[in-house]
Formats: sequence, structure tokens, C-alpha cells
Amino acid sequence: MGRSMRRYHVTTFGCQMNAHDSERIKGMLESLGLGEAPGPETADVLVFNTCTIREKPDTRLAAYLGDAAARKRRHPETVIAVGGCYAEAQRERIFQLYPFVDVAFGPGSIPHLGEWISAGGLAVGRSRFGAHDHFAADLPMHRERRHQAWVQVSMGCNSICSYCIVPAVRGREQSRRPGEIVAEVTGLAAEGVREVTLLGQNVNSWGRDLQPALRTEFGELLRAVDAVEGIERIRFTSPHPKDFREPVIRAIAECDAVCEHVHLPLQSGSTRVLRRMRRTYSRERYLALVERLRSAIPDLALGTDVIVGFPGETEDDFAETLEVVEQVGFDSAFTFVYSPRRGTEAAAMPDQVADEVKGERLERLVDLVQRRAAERNQARVGRTEAVLVEGASRTDASLLRGRTRRNTTVVFAGSAAPGDLVDVVVESATSTTLRGREAALVAA
Ligand code: SAH
Ligand code: SF4
Ligand code: F3S
Repeated sequence: MGRSMRRYHVTTFGCQMNAHDSERIKGMLESLGLGEAPGPETADVLVFNTCTIREKPDTRLAAYLGDAAARKRRHPETVIAVGGCYAEAQRERIFQLYPFVDVAFGPGSIPHLGEWISAGGLAVGRSRFGAHDHFAADLPMHRERRHQAWVQVSMGCNSICSYCIVPAVRGREQSRRPGEIVAEVTGLAAEGVREVTLLGQNVNSWGRDLQPALRTEFGELLRAVDAVEGIERIRFTSPHPKDFREPVIRAIAECDAVCEHVHLPLQSGSTRVLRRMRRTYSRERYLALVERLRSAIPDLALGTDVIVGFPGETEDDFAETLEVVEQVGFDSAFTFVYSPRRGTEAAAMPDQVADEVKGERLERLVDLVQRRAAERNQARVGRTEAVLVEGASRTDASLLRGRTRRNTTVVFAGSAAPGDLVDVVVESATSTTLRGREAALVAA
């Protein structure tokens, strides 16, 4: 240990909630006096913030932990910490599976992380799991992006979707108080943030568990955040279709800063499968909601999540999913092969679908999703879109990258700086990306 400053590295798996949790983990470690290492090879404290939504992230983690163990053999003072949803799901078993792990902690225990990894002596606690009793909002935070920020509005989930492990690892839903949320957004705006994404497993049920004097609903929260000076764009994820009420739709339509983009997880287009998933809406109710949203919010972009191969899904059920995807015409979609998670209701269902069938259905779904998304993006060619600049293009540093209000990535020629809002003329489109040039250049 020749260096004076110890360094950490955090590897993040999973959803935006986890990415945001990693900002807190990093903030916590920095408050202990650690600095961020450029990569895991040079870090003294290796943190893995894990996901367990499907089997795949579990498998990837095993490979990463193999590398971490090798580093620890070369540098025995290395501290290895495993946090997040997989850690919570496995709990003490983590130490049997990976004996070289020093600290394991669930998503509810981030506020205590500092007590277990203390900068000087690295007094390491063996395991801490969540009571989910503490809103981690007041912790130090290391924000990854200057002009965009995640703001947590709730933690946990009260739904009982039969395939899903999240309620088991993230606990019951707890809404954060509106005053606290608005204060955080106000602070972010003062630091130069222009876009906030409100995060919760089901943002549409936000507020219902607050004490009577504070009880409110998500539409009111959107309006309160919209009123914060300096915030140009508001996004939120995810709303559960079952809880999408009129006040929220009106707030999206009426608030200038709330973007015309809704991520509306479909999961399946078959009412029979939706019932077995315990989603509590039918195909018809989902389609009716899409109609209501589209008629209230002009130029709305819709994203979705779809699972194929849920237990008992027949070819007819799957055909219904394809029909809904064709009919709605999503602008983007995350498509997943059903993955049984231990302890969930669906994992115990007898009629699991064979892997080859799942794989083949996924291919057909992906083709359709891409064709519809490409058509939707093609319709933007020739238009001028307001783009919030995020930085240089990842594949060509001479170009810029940003997103439209409808959440489509745009790669374009221009001279704007990150954080600028610029008009871009769209010249071409693929299923995922628009290309163009800054309107100022076109006019010149
Ligand atoms: N709370 C959010 C999303 C949670 S997980 C919501 O309800 O919208 C993100 C997505 O992962 C889900 O929408 C679902 O499509 C997918 N997913 C969850 N569990 C899964 C499983 N066991 N197998 C495959 N996909 C799954
Ligand atoms: Fe999982 Fe359903 Fe809750 Fe989303 S709403 S986190 S899919 S249980
Ligand atoms: Fe997110 Fe994965 Fe946990 S999707 S909530 S990190 S299981």
C-alpha cells in the first residue's frame, strides 16, 4: 500500500434504480476519503452493485467476481463488497458461494455501508442486509452526469407480478415525502441540472402510503417539479398501467417540462397470460390506456417491456403479443426471455416453456419491434427536434450525441456543448437512432 489515497471502483448491473444507488455508494466511499479508481485493476475497494432480475446478470457477476478474487490473491488487502439485489436475494449464501467477499449488503442498507468499510483501517463487516427502514436520500452523492439527474421518489414495490423478484429484494413500497423531492430537485437545478428522471418501481402509486396530511398523487408531484425554475425536462420511470389515472395524464399533457415519453410495460398481449402474471389489466385495458394517452398528449413516444415464454404461454398467446406490438407501434421496447427466479410464484408453475421456443419467439418479437421503431423514427426525418446535448458520439468523436424530448438518441454534427438545448434537423433514422445536423448549420 504505497499510495496515500485508497481508491474504490464500483461496477453496476441492472436498472436505473441501481445506477442511482451506485451514485450514493460512490458518494459514501468518497465521504470516507477514498478516491475513484479508473478501473477495477487499480482499486483497493471493489464494489459490485448487483441485479438479480434475470439469470443473466447473476452469471455475469460470477465472471466479474472471479477477476476480483484473482486481484485479491495478488493484493490481499483488497476489499470486495457485493451490494444490490442479488446480494439481498442470496444473503448469507454469498459468503459460501464467494468466500473471498468481505462485505455484502442489500439495497436497503446503503446508508450503513460507511460503517462497514471505514477508510483508515478498513474495518470490514461480514454481512448487512436491509431492513429497508431508511430513505437514502440524505446521503452524500457522486452524480455521474452534470446536466441530468435521477431523483428517487419511492423505494420498493407493492405489486405481486408473479415472475418478479423485485418485491422480495426491495421490500414494500415507501414514498418519499413531496417536500423532500422538490427540495432535491431545486438543489439540482441550482447546480445546473436541466433534466430530471423521477425513479420508482411504480411511480403511479407514489404518494398513497404517505400520512393523511401529506397524501397526494403522482400528477401533483409532476406539477410541483415542473414549477422548479431551471428544470427543462422531466422524465419518470416506470408507471404501472394499472395505476395510470386521469390526473397524471393531464399533468403530462399540461406541464411544459414533462416530456412526451411514457415507458409503459406491456409484458404480454394476452389477457390470459397477463392474468397469470398478476398484472391486473387486460389486453383491452392496456390498449384503451394507450388511446387515452395518445389523444391527450400529442406526439407521444411510447416505450415498453415485453416478456416472452412466460409459463404456459402458447403460440396463440404469443401471437396476441405480436398483434399488440404491431398495433401500438412502440418507439422502443426492451424484450426479455422469461427467466424463472427462485421464490417467485411463476417459477413454481408446472408449464415452463422450452428454451428453444423462448429463443425463437424472442427473435420474432425483436424483428417486429425493430421494424415498428424504425418506421416511427423514419417519420421524424425532415423535422427539427429539440435535443439536450449529452456529449460526444460514442462511435465518432467529431459528432455530438443527445436526446429528443421523446427520448430518442440523436447523433449530429454541431458545435453545441453538453447541457445545451439545440435544434437539430433530422436527416436519417434507424430503429434506435436519429442522425442530423444542428439547425444553425443548416441555415448557414
Ligand atoms: N418496476 C418496473 C420494472 C421492473 S424490472 C415495472 O414494473 O415497470 C424491468 C423489467 O424486467 C420488467 O418490466 C419485466 O419486463 C422484466 N422482468 C422482470 N422479471 C423478469 C423475469 N423473471 N424474467 C424475464 N424478464 C423479467
Ligand atoms: Fe416487479 Fe411488477 Fe413491481 Fe414492476 S410492478 S417491480 S414488474 S412486481
Ligand atoms: Fe433493478 Fe435488477 Fe434490482 S432490475 S431493482 S437492480 S433486480
